Amino acid sequence: MGNGIAQVAARSGFDVVMCDVSAEFLARGMKAIDKSLQRDVDKERLAADEKNAITGRIKTTTEMAELASAVIVVEAVTEDLNVKQKVFQSLDSITAPAAILASNTSSISITRLGSATGRADKVIGMHFMNPVPVMKLVEIIRGAATSDDTYAKVHALTEKLGKIPLECQDSPGFISNRVLMPMINEAIFALYEGVASRESIDGIMKLGMNHPMGPLTLADFIGLDVCLAIMNVLHEGFGDSKYRPCPLLKRYVDAGWLGRKSGRGFYEY
Ligand SMILES: NC(=O)c1ccc[n+]([C@@H]2O[C@H](COP(=O)([O-])OP(=O)(O)OC[C@H]3O[C@@H](n4cnc5c(N)ncnc54)[C@H](O)[C@@H]3O)[C@@H](O)[C@H]2O)c1
Repeated sequence: MGNGIAQVAARSGFDVVMCDVSAEFLARGMKAIDKSLQRDVDKERLAADEKNAITGRIKTTTEMAELASAVIVVEAVTEDLNVKQKVFQSLDSITAPAAILASNTSSISITRLGSATGRADKVIGMHFMNPVPVMKLVEIIRGAATSDDTYAKVHALTEKLGKIPLECQDSPGFISNRVLMPMINEAIFALYEGVASRESIDGIMKLGMNHPMGPLTLADFIGLDVCLAIMNVLHEGFGDSKYRPCPLLKRYVDAGWLGRKSGRGFYEY
């Protein structure tokens, strides 16, 4: 997700610093950006020199201190509250007091992330969809303390990125994953109970509901660890057993079968 966001920002003319914990992950991210832009060059939707200009606007680093001059940071680290809180604490001490700190979290409370900083009014959710260069929506989430000024700036920035911002309040799973993830979880339960094969479940939802992807394929695409983390947030946040993650989802994550990114999930890649 991070490399997709970096690509879209650089393509819109912004200078970007992409930060990760290791050079290997950064190289993988730059490779994904290059591949995605090359596809547009091949289809004559982008000139080769423009592609070079876009990648030239992206600097990579493993040192968070290099984000010091950022006007806005969009955090897209692992979907884990503790990891994200630590990142927000660091960003709060590194960046200028006026900088906006946005999170691409799929489900974690923006209010909680804001509380990890001394600038909760400048903390906001910018939930991009996967794949970022293709998907138009950015769900903008207002934490309890997010100011109108921060919201207005992020709304305008989203439009500059060529995306459509839609607003929602801070609540477990926001709108997108509160509606999507229980559907995916239910599809996993149906597979677990032997109600239908993976192909039938996906085919029924594709052909019958006109979904572009079946729920199990989509889960593999999102990442099964991300799906499980979101179900846990919904389960804990609402305290309602209807959000309990399917045991099969837990088993796959325990096995390291995380979907497309690990080569195996509900399908093999
Ligand atoms: N996968 C999706 O479809 C999707 C869609 C929308 C939002 N999201 C959200 O985006 C975020 C990232 O998801 P992803 O699927 O790209 O996960 P991922 O595991 O593929 O990538 C996370 C990256 O964060 C890096 N990271 C971890 N800790 C870090 C730290 N302290 N400092 C810097 N980098 C760190 C990891 O090295 C890794 O490269 C999550 O919050 C997720 O919920 C994911």
